[in-house]
Amino acid sequence: MGYTVAIVGATGAVGVEFMRVLERRNFPVDKLVLLASKRSAGTKLAFKGKDITVTELNHDSFAGCHLALFSAGAKISREYRASCVKAGCLMVDNSSAFRMEDGVPLVVPEINPDAARAHKGVIANPNCTTIIALMALAPLHRVVPIRRLVAATYQAASGAGHAAMEELKDGTKAYLEGKEFTPKVLPHPYAFNLFPHNSPMTDNGYCEEEIKLLKESRKILADDTIRITGTCVRVPVLRTHAEALNVEFTKPMSVERAYEILRSAPGVTVLEDRAKNRWPMPTDVAGKDDVYVGRIRKDLSQDNTLDIWVVGDQLLKGAALNAVQCAEVAMLGKLAAAG
Ligand code: A2P
Repeated sequence: MGYTVAIVGATGAVGVEFMRVLERRNFPVDKLVLLASKRSAGTKLAFKGKDITVTELNHDSFAGCHLALFSAGAKISREYRASCVKAGCLMVDNSSAFRMEDGVPLVVPEINPDAARAHKGVIANPNCTTIIALMALAPLHRVVPIRRLVAATYQAASGAGHAAMEELKDGTKAYLEGKEFTPKVLPHPYAFNLFPHNSPMTDNGYCEEEIKLLKESRKILADDTIRITGTCVRVPVLRTHAEALNVEFTKPMSVERAYEILRSAPGVTVLEDRAKNRWPMPTDVAGKDDVYVGRIRKDLSQDNTLDIWVVGDQLLKGAALNAVQCAEVAMLGKLAAAG
């Protein structure tokens, strides 16, 4: 039996990836409903070789749908949650709207699939930076609990949506042509530049993205004792995040053991060639499902601590792929997340 699947935000950076992931993983879709704002109504997008017309999202859009994949921002998710759930349609939400709400599972299928199975109508897809970090950290944490994480992130434009990706391209072109360019989507010039993450600042000086990494990691790992701090930075890369993680364990964890664990972890690929100083880069990982890991080394400044380099496609494992995997676990009873 197939399902009627809706995509909310179908014309966006993640929305387009939802379609590709559903297609590629052969999710049993009988009918696909593409939803966006009035601006995009009438646009045609290809799915399995056929054009589907985008329609304007409204409160009746979910009638007859079994699954709705949302990526149109937290405001839209809040506004349409009730209509979606009332229609008996499972909402898998890529926004931050419900992630920390009690009773809403926050799921990375390789880590806490049982939470997805216990949903009550809504599954929250975690923040992209958090998913990518935890894909490498959770398998290690299961063997030796992590005491503290210090993260420095190098985040791509895709996390800020399609318009931010276009702005990076247009700004770079203008820079190379020596032309004036005023950014409209991101707060600062992006070409040949980097800046602290553009999410809102909080009172303690952390931006929301950094707070998400702390709170969401604790919820997904079901462990409130882990101490986490981070600095999130936007770098002029189109679609793949990189993260330098300094990880203190409660007991010794050798470099060799960490490699061994991560080599057999689902959804993780170890890529490195020390002799050639070759580690995962965004250009290796863009378009790939797995999160790539390398450069694991002992922190010489402190016991029981490793430095780990992690790279993941923000639009895939950081967003669309993880969301579809959540639906697979909840609706199709798939055990793990592998493609
Ligand atoms: P639209 O293209 O019609 O603006 P991104 O994350 O790449 O910025 O994409 C955001 C997605 O959310 C787009 O598909 C966008 O559609 C959609 N969206 C934005 N505002 C609304 C709205 N009011 N109703 C429905 N979809 C919306």
